[in-house]
Amino acid sequence: MEKTLSIVKPDGVRKNVIGEVLSRFEKKGMKISAIKMIHMTKKQAEGFYYVHKERPFFSDLTDFMSSGPCVVMALIGENAIKTVRETMGATNPEDAAAGTIRKDFADNVEQNIVHGSDSPESADYEISYFFNQLEIKE
Ligand code: CMP
Repeated sequence: MEKTLSIVKPDGVRKNVIGEVLSRFEKKGMKISAIKMIHMTKKQAEGFYYVHKERPFFSDLTDFMSSGPCVVMALIGENAIKTVRETMGATNPEDAAAGTIRKDFADNVEQNIVHGSDSPESADYEISYFFNQLEIKE
């Protein structure tokens, strides 16, 4: 079993698709081991996305991620990282396959509804960024 961290981003919350996103992960066999709604400050968003700090889109991305509440969740399941990323679709919704979350709901590469960890190392960092041991159901 593998763990991953997913976020329904502020655009997903504004579009009222929290349940839809959760349902798609659940239908792929993922179990929710922790979940909460938070509204990040710009600084907190910068800490979460620190690996992208040199990228030209870093400031816009962290403005967007702190623009409203989002739902953060730890998911557990077989090949959770790959399964969640396939369910989300490509980062840019224009490149996303039919039937993926981003194809169905995302407006553009920045406002793309959902985030999923890209490696086990990222998943460990990202889960512990939002949840302490007591908040995670193994
Ligand atoms: P995410 O999986 O959350 O990880 C980094 C995010 O940066 C990515 O999704 C995109 O939403 C966002 N982003 C904004 N602009 C770009 C871009 N030009 N290329 C890649 N990612 C971008």
